[in-house]
Amino acid sequence: MDKAKRKAIIAGNWKMNKTPKEATALLNEIKPLVADADCEVIACVPYVDLAAAIEATAGSNVKIGAENCHWAASGAFTGEISTGMLKEIGVEYVVLGHSERRQYFGETDETVNKRTKAALAAGLKPIVCVGELLWERECNITEEVIARQIKLDLWDVTEDELQNVVIAYEPVWAIGTGKTATAEQAEEVCAFIRAQLAKLYNQEAADAVTIQYGGSMNDANADELLSKVNVDGGLIGGASLVAEKFAAIVKAASK
Ligand code: PGA
Repeated sequence: MDKAKRKAIIAGNWKMNKTPKEATALLNEIKPLVADADCEVIACVPYVDLAAAIEATAGSNVKIGAENCHWAASGAFTGEISTGMLKEIGVEYVVLGHSERRQYFGETDETVNKRTKAALAAGLKPIVCVGELLWERECNITEEVIARQIKLDLWDVTEDELQNVVIAYEPVWAIGTGKTATAEQAEEVCAFIRAQLAKLYNQEAADAVTIQYGGSMNDANADELLSKVNVDGGLIGGASLVAEKFAAIVKAASK
């Protein structure tokens, strides 16, 4: 299956930015700029912005995602949000296992896997983030790290469920640092991820999975990154908060 048959997806990851009012304003700026996109366009926003974001994007081609979810349906998990809560208000996607959750909030491959399974069971589409630390790249164990994350994070995810999974390759050293992986580095690891998926499932299933690159992707480097055959889209942090920059990346993915 060639790249043209996979769904290109550009997703903004707003992180802890924008109040509900600011979210509405930014989405109103983004909507007309991406209205003719030939790729899927998503904004993943803070929990409290979700309702406003869904209202602001109703009837448009911009879909809304959350930035995390818990695996339990309900219960004594103070501060957490369930998949059912997200589904009920119309959320479609959810970012899981972002390196900031792994680094600062004790997220492990085991909990990423639990969240991924729960999201899929609820009909949400998880964007599962994997990526190596700079130290791991320097020690030449990028492939071991990625293979382990892919295997553990997708443990017990069926081939049918895999169709609703998006993988985001985000080298941790490139996130928010302005230091982008070269297009060759991004392609190399995205191709490696696809090969791992082919091993765990089969080639056809692997060929159908959208694999994004993330880490300082912006309007200036998107074209080159997205020209690579295994880079099917982007998970965009900083540049997703500026309407024109985000729209330029969407345009690059629409070619
Ligand atoms: P960045 O963030 O584009 O600001 O590097 C990407 C991400 O964390 O998803």
